[in-house]
Amino acid sequence: MRESLPMPRSPEGDVLTTAGRQDEYTVSVCRTERAVVDRLRAEIDGRRVAVISDHTVARLHARRLADTLSANGLEVTATSFPAGEASKSLATASELLDWLAGTALARRDIVLAVGGGVVIDTVGWVASAYMRGVPYINVPTTLLAHVDAALGGKVAVDHPTAKNLIGAFYQPKAVISNVGYLRTLDRRQLRAGLAEVIKKGVIASPELFEFIEHRHPAILGGDLVTTARLVHGATVVKCGLVSKDPYELDLRRPLNFGHTIGHAVETVTDYGPVLHGEAVAFGMACAARIAERRGLLDWRTRARLCDLLVAVGLPVMLDDLPVDLDVTAVLAALWQIRKIRDGVLRFVLPTALGETVIADDVTDDEIRTAITTDTTGYRRLRTG
Ligand SMILES: NC(=O)c1ccc[n+]([C@@H]2O[C@H](COP(=O)([O-])OP(=O)(O)OC[C@H]3O[C@@H](n4cnc5c(N)ncnc54)[C@H](O)[C@@H]3O)[C@@H](O)[C@H]2O)c1
Ligand SMILES: [Zn+2]
Repeated sequence: MRESLPMPRSPEGDVLTTAGRQDEYTVSVCRTERAVVDRLRAEIDGRRVAVISDHTVARLHARRLADTLSANGLEVTATSFPAGEASKSLATASELLDWLAGTALARRDIVLAVGGGVVIDTVGWVASAYMRGVPYINVPTTLLAHVDAALGGKVAVDHPTAKNLIGAFYQPKAVISNVGYLRTLDRRQLRAGLAEVIKKGVIASPELFEFIEHRHPAILGGDLVTTARLVHGATVVKCGLVSKDPYELDLRRPLNFGHTIGHAVETVTDYGPVLHGEAVAFGMACAARIAERRGLLDWRTRARLCDLLVAVGLPVMLDDLPVDLDVTAVLAALWQIRKIRDGVLRFVLPTALGETVIADDVTDDEIRTAITTDTTGYRRLRTG
């Protein structure tokens, strides 16, 4: 290769440089591990693989998957770390980087993240840093990871001062979503994952919302055909929304529906007793009540949302939460978030199924009323 770049005559003038990059990857939804292995073999194409999961997923699925890949002639090495949000840390990332450095993994080899959102976020961030970025493939094993964490390339670990503080945008090489792995997941985790799909229905897809209204018993009952349709539908919605603004330049994102109060609930309860999806469900119910009181959302649609959340087994009122929530502490946490975000607290408020507006003038009174009200659902209202 020969190049001859001109030397400017004078040393003045700024030098403009560009570094554009277009990432593209496929998300495959399947129902069996056999299908996962077939897709993986095509993606890996003979390269070395480092499989990383948490101890629980290693025992249930990842070890068997690694053995099968090995039996198919691939050079596979595997490790795992303790399950749980506490592992989504710089300490775990650092251990994984040490481990990778001790393997023969090279720049074009593949890291395979097999697990829930904790594994996927941590491993994705490690992959983004190792050798300035090695390709990684997500194999999600929780519903939340199938419909959310595995998609969009937001990778991060937590810092003691804030969740997801140390992270990057780093897109996976592929996502392979086997709903068969959800068979071993407990129902509470499944319900929490459904909250994020209901959210997608409210903000962008009335059809997806109706699908869950009709089919949630089958999904919670373990019907994999229905669950695969759900995951596929949620994937289309999330990828459609994310691809419009993959690096989140616009902070007014409808995907944050339910997350303003949801995050505050998680913060004041120390990311322990309330699952992320449960906090988001409660946050969605509160945001819908704020929208209704503002005259933006008709009460039937608000009640329809609350009814669905209740039917799925998700919290919509204070009493539904698995802990006693200190409302004043929630408001204080929201003030803290407001401070970090240049004094602006954004709420995604639904105005109809598939439509939202962003409000940055919601008052403490509105929030307190929305959190403490006992307005629940349509059915409860009609019978009660
Ligand atoms: N990157 C993103 O865009 C994004 C989006 C949403 C959430 N997240 C992150 O995801 C994390 C939460 O993810 P999560 O809810 O999947 O939690 P998780 O990864 O902690 O998994 C929950 C529990 O289920 C276990 N588990 C996983 N798969 C299983 C299976 N098939 N059978 C039985 N047990 C199984 C895990 O070992 C763990 O104990 C949070 O850290 C959150 O910040 C990231
Ligand atoms: Zn979320």
